[in-house]
Order: sequence, then C-alpha cells, then structure tokens
Amino acid sequence: TDASLVDRLGRPMRDLRISVMDRCNFRCPYCMPEATYHEGFRFLAPRERLDFDEIERVARVAAGLGVTKLRLTGGEPLLRPGLPELVARLVRVPGIEDVALTTNGVLLARSAAVLRAAGLHRVTVSLDSLDAAVFAQMSGGRAKLSTVLDGIEAARAAGFPGGMKINSVIQRGVNDSGILDLAARFRGTDIVLRFIEYMDVGTRNGWERADVVPSREILARIDAHWPLIPLSPNYRGEVARRYRYVDGEGEVGFVSSVSAPFCGDCSRARLSSDGKLYTCLFAAEGTDLRAILREDDTVQGDRKLRATLSGIWHGRADRYSEERAIPRGCSAVKGKAPAAEKIEMHYIGG
Ligand code: GTP
Ligand code: 5AD
Ligand code: SF4
Ligand code: SF4
Repeated sequence: TDASLVDRLGRPMRDLRISVMDRCNFRCPYCMPEATYHEGFRFLAPRERLDFDEIERVARVAAGLGVTKLRLTGGEPLLRPGLPELVARLVRVPGIEDVALTTNGVLLARSAAVLRAAGLHRVTVSLDSLDAAVFAQMSGGRAKLSTVLDGIEAARAAGFPGGMKINSVIQRGVNDSGILDLAARFRGTDIVLRFIEYMDVGTRNGWERADVVPSREILARIDAHWPLIPLSPNYRGEVARRYRYVDGEGEVGFVSSVSAPFCGDCSRARLSSDGKLYTCLFAAEGTDLRAILREDDTVQGDRKLRATLSGIWHGRADRYSEERAIPRGCSAVKGKAPAAEKIEMHYIGG
C-alpha cells in the first residue's frame, strides 16, 4: 500500500464515497426537483453502472493508496438490487476499516438487519423534518414520515457497531422552525443528529445564500434550551463539528460547508455509479474509470487503475467551498473560478 500519496495541497486520500445508484425514490426540491426529474428524465441504464466486481476493484485499489473509509451513497443506495452483498464484499477489502451508508431511510425497515449481518458498520439517515407536512414538502411527497421513522427504529434495533446519525438539511423559511423538535427527538439517544447548511450543489436547485441558515444560528437556538459544549473531532478532517449536551443527553453536529468551509483537510474522493472519479463535490468533470475496468479485468488492469487514481489524486487542488467563501472580485482569488457546470447531488451522493 501507499498511504503517503497526497494531493497538491498535501491532503491524503482516506475516504471514498461510492454512489451505487443515481435514481432516488424521493424528489427533495433541493436535490432532485420534480420539474427536472420527471418520467422523461434519463437515468443511467443498469449496464452503464459499475457492477459489484468493478466497484470492489476500485475499492481495493483505493485502499492500496490509503483509503480506509467507504461510504455508500446514491441517489438512494437501497434502490440498488443486492446491496447487502456489495457491503459484505467491501467490508472484507484489506485496509478498509469503516463502511457506512447514507440513505433516506424509506427502505431501511426491511433491510436493516440484513445490512447489519452483511457487516455494515454505520448508517446515516437523512431526515429534514418531524412535521408530516414539511417532511412531505421536503421529500417531494413520495413517502410517509412514519416510514422513515420506522426505518430509523429498525436500524437502531439492528445495532450497527459504529452507531447511527441523522442528517438534517436546514433551509430558511422551510424547516428552520423545526430545529428544536429535531433536537428534542434525538436528545437522550445514541443517535447523533447533524444539522447541515444548505449548499449550492449541482445546478438545479436554485440555491440562494439567503436560504442558508448558518450553523452558528442553529447552535445558538439549541444552546439556549439545552446548553452545548464543543467536542474534539473523531478524525482529522471530520466534516461535522461536534458538540455535546452539558446535561449528558448526547451529541449533535454541524456541517457548515457554507459558513466555515473544511476543504483544508478534505480527504474525500467520489465515485459515481457509472464509474467516474471526482475529486470534489463541486467538480465539473470526473475521470472515467469504467473504461479501464472494462478494457482489462486482470492484474494489469488493476495496475493501470492504480496509476490513474494516484495520478488524479496527485494533481488534485480542489477547494471549492473555500473559494466560494471569498468575496467575488477579491484579488486573493487565484486558482480557477468556481465551476459553472457542477455535478448533481443525486449523481454523486453528497
Ligand atoms: P461521517 O463519516 O459520519 O463523518 O460522514 P460525513 O458527514 O462525511 O458524510 P454524510 O454523507 O453524512 O454527509 C453529511 C453532509 O456533509 C452532506 O450534506 C454532504 O453532502 C456533506 N459533505 C460530505 N462531505 C463533504 C465534502 O467533502 N464537502 C462538502 N462541501 N460537503 C460534504
Ligand atoms: N445541501 C446540503 N446537503 C444536501 N444533501 C442533499 N442536497 C444537499 C444540499 N443542497 C444531503 C442529503 C443527505 C446528504 C448526503 O446530503 O440530505 O443527507
Ligand atoms: Fe433527497 Fe437524498 Fe434522494 Fe436527493 S438523493 S432526492 S437528497 S433523498
Ligand atoms: Fe472537499 Fe470540495 Fe467539499 Fe472542499 S468543497 S471539502 S474540496 S469536496
């Protein structure tokens, strides 16, 4: 293995986020607005997606270059047929210490126990509101809140060794009035609730800065009810800032990519379901690994894959969120301008 590989900003590659499915059974307006993602939208065909052998090969090669963490994402990863089988294969890849899943939770009740048995370490469920009407609005009206809550309960009961998290994207005027409800619900449990600043991912959600509720505001609101104190990160470059309730009732986190970008320690690579590798969530273009995978499935092909991956990482200089934070026209902005074309969230899984 070569764990000494670093990019142009000195950042190692530790984390590979693997999107296994570009489709989703939700239509969250901030990710897959119904106006674009209607019946006529062309998603990837099954043949275009990497199969499990191909995904496993990429994971093995990435692990050989220093990756220790894998996260399965979508769209909705549980729409991918046979996902537990993939999990079982990935947890056995040498060097991989942590395999997690980010899901909207709708299909979790029926698969939590199987995923646990397959060796999945951790589960993160997206849940933006506990108000049935707001939930329906934020998920595009495709599922019931109670189904997601049942999924969360099933996952809790299955007992994932690395624990569970809830991700709540907060949008001003949409669900910010439910912040304390969310906090109240998960206080006193082992489940870690994380509030996520709404980001300008993709090109289709009409993001405006005014829609973002800065983490410090959310923190202040919760702290006024239940005082919080900061905790140190679980790992270098952790996406969320951690806090615990002073009264011992658990932990919350804040993902502040708009108000406090964390590119400086970003060690994440992303693989789309059709096998393109992206070095940033906000990248315009990726590198096609599928062609290499399909052209040669021998050790020789693996070598080429390794050389390609390490070459890409070597040349990496992405720091989109930090560049966004610098006011336009500021002479401190060197590097390239933020991409006008960006990959979509459902395609790369956040
Ligand atoms: P942990 O391993 O539990 O720390 O997971 P995570 O927080 O890295 O992953 P998760 O899928 O739960 O993502 C939480 C939020 O952070 C989502 O909104 C992601 O889109 C966002 N996020 C994750 N990684 C990055 C990143 O590298 N850059 C930016 N800007 N956002 C990210
Ligand atoms: N900004 C912030 N988070 C987002 N997610 C999806 N779209 C956005 C956005 N525009 C979240 C999902 C999921 C995670 C992977 O990314 O809710 O929890
Ligand atoms: Fe919503 Fe996640 Fe589906 Fe996007 S991928 S529409 S954020 S559930
Ligand atoms: Fe990493 Fe890009 Fe996110 Fe910055 S914006 S933390 S470089 S993925």
